[in-house]
Amino acid sequence: MKQQLIREILARRDFGAAVTARGWLKTRRDAKGGFSFLELNDGSCFANLQVVADNSLGNYESEVVKLQPGSSLEVAGELIESPGGGQAVEVKARTLRVYGFVDIDKYPLQKKRISFEKLREIAHLRPRTNTFGAMTRVRSALSFATHDFFRERNFYYLSTPIITASDCEGAGEMFRVSTLDAADPPRSPGGKVDWGQDFFAREAKLTVSGQLEAEAYACALTRVYSFGPTFRAENSNTSRHLAEFWMVEPEMAFADLDDDADLAEEYLKYLVSYILENCREDLEFFNQWIEKSLLATLEAIPESNFMRLSYSEAIDILKKAKQNFECPVENWGVDLQSEHERHLTEQEFKKPVIITGYPKQIKPFYMRLNDDGKTVRALDVLLPRIGEIIGGSQREERLDILETRLKETGMNPADYWWYLDLRRFGAVPHAGFGLGFERLVQFCTGLSNIRDVIPFPRTPRHAEF
Ligand code: 4AD
Ligand code: MG
Repeated sequence: MKQQLIREILARRDFGAAVTARGWLKTRRDAKGGFSFLELNDGSCFANLQVVADNSLGNYESEVVKLQPGSSLEVAGELIESPGGGQAVEVKARTLRVYGFVDIDKYPLQKKRISFEKLREIAHLRPRTNTFGAMTRVRSALSFATHDFFRERNFYYLSTPIITASDCEGAGEMFRVSTLDAADPPRSPGGKVDWGQDFFAREAKLTVSGQLEAEAYACALTRVYSFGPTFRAENSNTSRHLAEFWMVEPEMAFADLDDDADLAEEYLKYLVSYILENCREDLEFFNQWIEKSLLATLEAIPESNFMRLSYSEAIDILKKAKQNFECPVENWGVDLQSEHERHLTEQEFKKPVIITGYPKQIKPFYMRLNDDGKTVRALDVLLPRIGEIIGGSQREERLDILETRLKETGMNPADYWWYLDLRRFGAVPHAGFGLGFERLVQFCTGLSNIRDVIPFPRTPRHAEF
């Protein structure tokens, strides 16, 4: 008998058909008269498959009535119309094979509710809970939707390197990649570590962004996107920061900041529409148990026109806001904090907001300088509950200005010779952005902590599993 996913079995209506299901037991309920109801789940969908097992099974007394949540089973039997409420179909077991029993006293996932904090300590078992099953399916759907979206628009999928020598964001928050003996590294005569003797014969780091390399390919294939892990050694213990997170980074040649904002808005609308269509059951679960306004917030996105305004306009609004900010907005030039971003998108405009034209001092070297000499063609997209989800810009394509900006921001132009070549040979206006994939999953599930939207989170002091 062919094994089927529970999702497929639940969708079938040909009663009497033979089916075989495998999965993990959620609950067992014994009825009088020698039969039991088993709720089985294999993660293929939110709903469980109800199995009726009775004492005509040879192992009913010896095994079935001893099954505990978490046990793994194979059930072969017949699909029947469910007489009970709650489900349309169930399986009457003809044979039941136990793969693995569970000692319930030692099993960390017992029936009672467990906090998200505790679940992080058992990150290898939490995918068996309703929340993490649903999160994982939504995350996977968002990833497929990403590839569909960009492929439909003629973007090529590009694998940018994870090990790199360039600090794209210039924030110096990079993890080192080295094979030198940390306790006794080779030293140059001056006493400094001699990186020339390291694996790559230079200092190497984990990338903070694939953007610079994506630019090289956009300046040849016109439209590319990368989607990969990025790493930041910022010591921020917030519900929105990870040390290892995934970023989607499209890059377009012959494009300016308006094209960039249009792409960002279209992409977010596409993602939300996609999961509303394809992940209904999981989203309804999140809406009921995690975030009561989730579906309403998501359903508003495809219909809305994102609010677009300049940084200067945003500062004026924030200065006048009635809200007491922890960090009050006093002067033009300050960076926006999460509380300010959320005020704009949640209170002020009640929809997604795109802010452009940030002061150059608070943005990286690669953003195109405006004619005022003070602001750059940057954009941030802000979402309710999340704040910044996307950061992007039109890129500086003028060689001399880019060189000046590199120096101004404390970088060595010689290290970026190849990036400057893209401006020396056939430079074109180009633009792109980076979307924080975990923040997207937070937005789409209502889960409030970023540690709960990635299978195995990496944060300061945490890299187990
Ligand atoms: O705004 P960021 O730093 O932009 C860049 O890295 C550009 N090079 C992207 C580009 O233009 N190709 O980061 C982009 C997004 C942020 O808006 C945020 O959603 C997410 O990445 N992000 C993080 N997500 C989780 N944990 C962190 N520590 C993050 N830092 C940034
Ligand atoms: Mg940013």
